[in-house]
Formats: sequence, C-alpha cells, structure tokens
Amino acid sequence: MFEGKSVAITGATSGIGRAIAEMFLAGGAKVAISDLTSPQDTADEIGAVAFKCDVSKEAEIEEFIDNAGAANGPVDIFVANAGVGYGDEKHAAGASNEAWEASWQINVMQSVYASRVLLPEWRERGGGRLVVTSSAAGLMAQIGSASYTATKHAVEAFAEQVAFEHAHQGVKVNCICPQYVRTNMTKGFSMAENSKDGFLEPSDVADALKKAIENDKFLVLPHPVVGEYFKHRAMDVDAYIGGMAKLKSKLRAETLPLKS
Ligand SMILES: NC(=O)c1ccc[n+]([C@@H]2O[C@H](COP(=O)([O-])OP(=O)(O)OC[C@H]3O[C@@H](n4cnc5c(N)ncnc54)[C@H](O)[C@@H]3O)[C@@H](O)[C@H]2O)c1
Repeated sequence: MFEGKSVAITGATSGIGRAIAEMFLAGGAKVAISDLTSPQDTADEIGAVAFKCDVSKEAEIEEFIDNAGAANGPVDIFVANAGVGYGDEKHAAGASNEAWEASWQINVMQSVYASRVLLPEWRERGGGRLVVTSSAAGLMAQIGSASYTATKHAVEAFAEQVAFEHAHQGVKVNCICPQYVRTNMTKGFSMAENSKDGFLEPSDVADALKKAIENDKFLVLPHPVVGEYFKHRAMDVDAYIGGMAKLKSKLRAETLPLKS
C-alpha cells in the first residue's frame, strides 16, 4: 500500500513511533526514523535508516528531512510523533516555564518546522502526507497536565489547518488521538494501566493509522469511544467539565504521570 514511499518518523526508538515505522515498512515504504539520539539499533532490527533529530530545534528537523530524502528519496510522508508530557505541581498552572516551553516546542512546533520545509515541496510535487501524534488529550484533556492538554489541542488545530488549506494541493493529514498506550511514556502509570477504555499496544495505534489512511479519515481513533466523548464535549461543554471534575476527584490520589 505504501510501495516506494519515503517516510520520515520522529521519536521512533520505541513505542508508537517504532510501531508506525514497522507498519509503513510492511506496506512497502522506505523509512527513516529519528530520536534524540540516533535509534540505530531499532533501525537495524526493523530495516529502516536512523538519524539523530531533536525536534525542538528547527535546524535539526530540516537536517532530518534532508537526510531522509538523501537516503530514501524526497519525503512523501512525515510523522511528527515525538512528544513529552509534564505533570502539574499543586495546581493547573503549576508546571514550570521550562516544562511549558519544552511541551510547546516538541508537541507543537516540530509539526510547524516540518511543514515549513515540506508544504512548498509537496505543492511542487503534487502532494504529500503529514501525520501528527496528538492524543485523546488533544480532543479532551489529560487530567493533571495542562501543558500536555493545551499543546496537544494546539497541534490538532494546526493539523486541521494544514488539511483544509492544502487539500487542493494533494496534501493529506492524519491526526492520531489515542487514550492510553503501553509505552515508556505510560510505564508505571496506574491511570493508564487501569483505564476502563483499554490500555492498547503501539501496534494497535499503527493499525488504526493504516485504516484511517485507507478510509481517508483525518482523525485516527485507536480507542473508538474517544469519538463519542469528543461529540459529547462539543454538544455540552458544561456537562463535560462536570464529568472531568468528578473524574479528577476520583483520581486525586494518583501521582503524576507523563514523562518521556
Ligand atoms: N503512550 C500513550 O498513552 C500516548 C497516548 C496518546 C498520545 N501519545 C503520544 O504518542 C507519542 C509517542 O509517545 P510514546 O507513547 O510512544 O512514548 P515513547 O516514550 O516511547 O516515545 C516518545 C519519544 O519521543 C522522544 N522525544 C522526546 N523529546 C524529543 C525531542 N526533543 N526530539 C526528538 N525526540 C524526542 C523520546 O526520546 C521517545 O523516544 C507522543 O507524542 C505522545 O504524546 C502517547
């Protein structure tokens, strides 16, 4: 299905990024993966090429796209997957400025930096695909991490904007919005392990992305119930906030979670 396509994926040493790399490779693509340090071992295991790319630095994204292009041909599909989350201390504005800044750079600006390089190229070449890994928190919220919620919403909004502004140029966009998935990010996080909506494997997310591409769907919902929650929030935001407040009280004892 992806025969000969050149795919570049960030934050792909393990977890969701690695699973997405394996899905594209199985479909016949040529894949370049990157992470904070070059994920050479992962690349050797799965048959990809590896590069170092700190996605918070625009120059490193440009370099990754160049390197991926030199190895596999001009990038057809870019997956902005790297992400971080920081818990709030004491109250919803309690995370440090450093945590907010890192969340903004990594969770949002990586997609802007990549798009700045790729959209003009894709316009010339007649199309391309941007995939962003947002989160169910990008449609609703992550209790205990306002910076994660806000930045995952921001990247979802940016992805929508790219989708409608560049549709006429053949640019496709997918926005992945899972609840909890078993990766390094959720290791030891009981809210994830005990989630009533299921604790998925990274391969489930990759399968959901493949289906969304086949069916030409923007939103990728590995936990389908997230689509229902999203509708509910849109229809009655007061009821949604009330429900989240109840959930927050229930989880008050939970220590905070997200790390990467
Ligand atoms: N695990 C979940 O439950 C879950 C749910 C929804 C969304 N997500 C999102 O999925 C994506 C992948 O996370 P994961 O769950 O596979 O966890 P993970 O920890 O396996 O992967 C995250 C990767 O991002 C990399 N990274 C962090 N900062 C970086 C930077 N500045 N430059 C380059 N790479 C950087 C990490 O090194 C790591 O390899 C993230 O965007 C995360 O927010 C995860």
